[in-house]
Amino acid sequence: MAREFSTVGVVGLGIQGAGVAEVFARAGVAVVGVEVDLDALERGRALVEHSTERAVAGGKLTEVERDQLLGRITYTARLADLADCDLVVEAVTENLELKAGVFAEVDRITPPDTVLATNTSSLSVTEIGVHTGRPERVIGMHFFNPAPVLKLVEVVRTVVTEPDVITDVENLLRRIGKTPLVIGDRAGFLANSLLFSYLNHAVLMYEQRYATREDLDAAMKYGCGYPMGPLALLDLIGLDIASEILDTMYKQSRDRLHAPAPLLKQMITAGMLGRKTGRGFYTYQ
Ligand code: CAA
Repeated sequence: MAREFSTVGVVGLGIQGAGVAEVFARAGVAVVGVEVDLDALERGRALVEHSTERAVAGGKLTEVERDQLLGRITYTARLADLADCDLVVEAVTENLELKAGVFAEVDRITPPDTVLATNTSSLSVTEIGVHTGRPERVIGMHFFNPAPVLKLVEVVRTVVTEPDVITDVENLLRRIGKTPLVIGDRAGFLANSLLFSYLNHAVLMYEQRYATREDLDAAMKYGCGYPMGPLALLDLIGLDIASEILDTMYKQSRDRLHAPAPLLKQMITAGMLGRKTGRGFYTYQ
């Protein structure tokens, strides 16, 4: 029988985690959002509030639905408050040690049949899962930014993930309006593997002064119908995240398409991470 997931925990309420919390809450699921401290919780809450304001402005939600959505999310700085969750989605910084620590702790706190998912973009789900006593209930659940808008979720199975867990998660994702795609555990999975070679290529062309940032973005937006050009998209994703994804893919594939463009590293060192720091390839207010 299909498993009902009624309470979902989300650990890490950055842009991705806040988006994931919003998606579940919008579909009527109770969400427990966890962050390290009260300041981070307030930032997470503000992200959900801002995003749902846009949804109302765009006619995607009514004011009443927005209030109900916001009312389904509780915010806490204690992982122990995840004790009643039947699914926990981890969305903390892309760092294996950090994620492994969160998984070990959540494994201790939650009932044995709780499904533990990671929103990692490029790290090995298998490696994260072995830090728990239930690797067969560990899965990748990779959302795309902005999570409330984009439909795809890559469901990453490892060699030990139980088939029932995959089916339950696929059904849940369909129930909340997403399009799941089940794939194996490989750096970059499917979409990022294709996308990031292209984004990296755009940075190299810009670095070599082959084209201006505006021309690069216009080419893909108006010539190929992409919603935004590659440099604008990198600013949205965050250059630090993009570089980590490329690094991980390059280590595994040794494909030079994945070797991060030197300019990316320089911009990161200079603090130009994209929208979140106010400056990347473009400047933001
Ligand atoms: N809930 C539901 N809908 C919402 C919403 C919310 N919280 N916020 C906005 N929307 C809707 C809007 O109403 C609007 O709908 P319509 O198109 O029907 O009018 C739509 O979403 C677009 O929103 P905006 O008008 O506010 O913004 P925009 O038109 O400038 O689009 C964008 C912005 C959605 C980011 C679009 O440019 C886009 O899809 N860009 C590509 C993003 C992309 O490629 N992401 C993948 C990155 S890679 C990744 O994420 C993987 C990783 O591991 C890092």
